[in-house]
Amino acid sequence: MTKEQQKEYLVSIIEGKEALVIPIRDENGAEIGTMRPITKSQLQAGDVIEKMTKWRNQYKAFFLSQFTATPARTRQWLEKAVLANPTQLLFLIYHGETLIGQYGFKDLDGESAFLDNLLRGERGGHPMLMKYAVSALAGWLFDAMQVSMVYGYTFANNAMALKLNRDVGFSCVEKYPLRKQVEGDEIKWVVGKAGEPSPDNHYYQKIVMTRGSRTVQAAKETYMDKTIEFENEVRKNIADLAADKQLIKQSWDWNIATARHHYTYNFSYLGRPIIQFPQDTMAMQEIVWKVRPDLIIETGIAHGGSLMLSAAMLALLDYCEAAGAGKTLDPKAGRRRVLGLDIDIRAHNRAAIEAHPMAHMIDMIQGSSVAPDIVAKVHEYAKGYKRILLCLDSNHTHAHVLAELEAYAPLVSKGSYCVVFDTSIEDGPEDMFPGRPWGKGDNPKTAVREYLKTHPEFEIDKSIPDKLLVTVAPDGYLKRVR
Ligand SMILES: C[S@@+](CC[C@H](N)C(=O)[O-])C[C@H]1O[C@@H](n2cnc3c(N)ncnc32)[C@H](O)[C@@H]1O
Repeated sequence: MTKEQQKEYLVSIIEGKEALVIPIRDENGAEIGTMRPITKSQLQAGDVIEKMTKWRNQYKAFFLSQFTATPARTRQWLEKAVLANPTQLLFLIYHGETLIGQYGFKDLDGESAFLDNLLRGERGGHPMLMKYAVSALAGWLFDAMQVSMVYGYTFANNAMALKLNRDVGFSCVEKYPLRKQVEGDEIKWVVGKAGEPSPDNHYYQKIVMTRGSRTVQAAKETYMDKTIEFENEVRKNIADLAADKQLIKQSWDWNIATARHHYTYNFSYLGRPIIQFPQDTMAMQEIVWKVRPDLIIETGIAHGGSLMLSAAMLALLDYCEAAGAGKTLDPKAGRRRVLGLDIDIRAHNRAAIEAHPMAHMIDMIQGSSVAPDIVAKVHEYAKGYKRILLCLDSNHTHAHVLAELEAYAPLVSKGSYCVVFDTSIEDGPEDMFPGRPWGKGDNPKTAVREYLKTHPEFEIDKSIPDKLLVTVAPDGYLKRVR
């Protein structure tokens, strides 16, 4: 899982869009408690804040900075530090519905995470609840977040904490000297350089655990829903593919070699020729399912195959919604549409598209996609649609694609995509498209680069080309993120 994917996931938890409960299990797999992340909605939960404040005061000697906590200060810390940090989660530990303590991590950076804030504030529950909580959180970070290492710090004279952590698989590494700093009635322990002596004879012990060194497999993967497990496996596959330079080169060589055979002409969708790699059509259907658009705008119709793919996917969304709700579907009553633009809709293609059973979902406009009257018509058409997906596949010159992006990308809904095809032209040999106005240095990829300089609302979704390997759209899957 990449750092960015981890962040996106943590933010969705903090904002309450994703639910997460980590069961705490003993060695026999029996559930003895749960860990539930603090989310924004809990900022108003006075009882939780009261308890956390009480614990912070009760156990202040175990923290680097020692002050008298108040509910207002705790709430502010949660709001401004914990919940504002997309690399951090703080969990509440429960025995049944009884709040017992807290534990969390921060600095999740793709590879590792810093475990912090372990406190048992209340009696009750399993005597080893905190030990199993440490193991459960480390296990979740290894398995669900796919980190290879977790680490933490404890005061070197805290024998109980050291034992607890050793029991679950942590090893002690460097020791850091601490220097006492007193400011009013607050004490701060300032951390020095590893290996150096402490003027106050007080040390901070760093502890680390790798996936393999985790000894208490209490959670035993049973907490991880099999679906998440599979998704994580796929994410790892994709990350591994992205690092496999040899396979990427082989795929690219294959990609180029197929061009001289017009390989992309060989396929059709619902009977209409589609000029795409099958891999990109698979990516398109995944995007449509995820985004659930009500309008797909496409520039570049040709034979109409990509219009059919879009229409078929929209029809399937209608079908699934009706089937899920137990409703009868009138295929022609849906509101979802595909709008295609082409400078030259050949008569035989137009006739075949209009005669197709999917035609009721498709509208076409003839004209240059960058002509002001066409742009105005499309904007007019798009009014009233809520979730718009855009595909650019017409004239592949830099100027044309950049003008299309300027004209239509603002219509793309947040969370949806603008897919810019044929960005691969930039990566091909100089003579790949003889007789075409586009080529190296003047193509959709150069236009995307230019456009993104001033449009931070779009980001390249690398995970799509990374998993496809064979694609005409490297750096062409643009996700609207804001
Ligand atoms: C690669 S094909 C489209 C393939 C189609 N999207 C598919 O996947 O099957 C490119 C199309 O863009 C059209 N085109 C070229 N210049 C254009 C322009 N300025 N405005 C709109 N369409 C244009 C061409 O007529 C051609 O039909």
